[in-house]
Amino acid sequence: MSEGELMEAAIAARKMSYAPYSSYQVGAALLAEDGSLYTGCNVENASYGATCCAERTAVFKAVSEGRRAFRMIAIAGGSGEKLNLAHPCGICRQVLREFCDPARFTVIVGTSADSRKSYTLEELLPESFGPDFMPE
Ligand code: THU
Repeated sequence: MSEGELMEAAIAARKMSYAPYSSYQVGAALLAEDGSLYTGCNVENASYGATCCAERTAVFKAVSEGRRAFRMIAIAGGSGEKLNLAHPCGICRQVLREFCDPARFTVIVGTSADSRKSYTLEELLPESFGPDFMPE
C-alpha cells in the first residue's frame, strides 16, 4: 500500500470521529508489517482526559488483534471539511515508539492523498525511551 493510499484510508477513518467537545476530527490508518491495515479515530469524553487520540485507537486495535510490528501510519485531522497537518501528539509518538523502530517507521500527515509530508518516527521523537531500555 502506498503512502497516498494510506492517507486516503486515514481521511475515510476520520468520518467516524467522535469529537463533540473540540470539534477537531482525526482519523488514522496504520499499516502493519504483514500488510494488514488498522484504522482509528479520536474518541472524546465529557471527562476530557479520558479522550483517546485516533493514532492510539488504531495502535490499540492492532495490538489487541495480535499485530506488534508496523511500517507506517497516516493521520488526517481538522475541523469540519477543512483539514490541516495533524502531527501526532507526544503521547501518541511515545505509544508508537513502543512497537516501531524509530529509524524505520514512517509517519505521514496530510490533507489529501497527494498533499502530505512524511517523517521517520525518530525525527518526531528524537533520543527516545523505549522497551529496549528496560531490563529483560
Ligand atoms: N487528537 C488526535 O486524535 N491525535 C493527535 O495526535 C492530536 C489530538 C485529538 C484529541 C482530541 O479529540 C482532539 O484531537 C483535539 O485535541
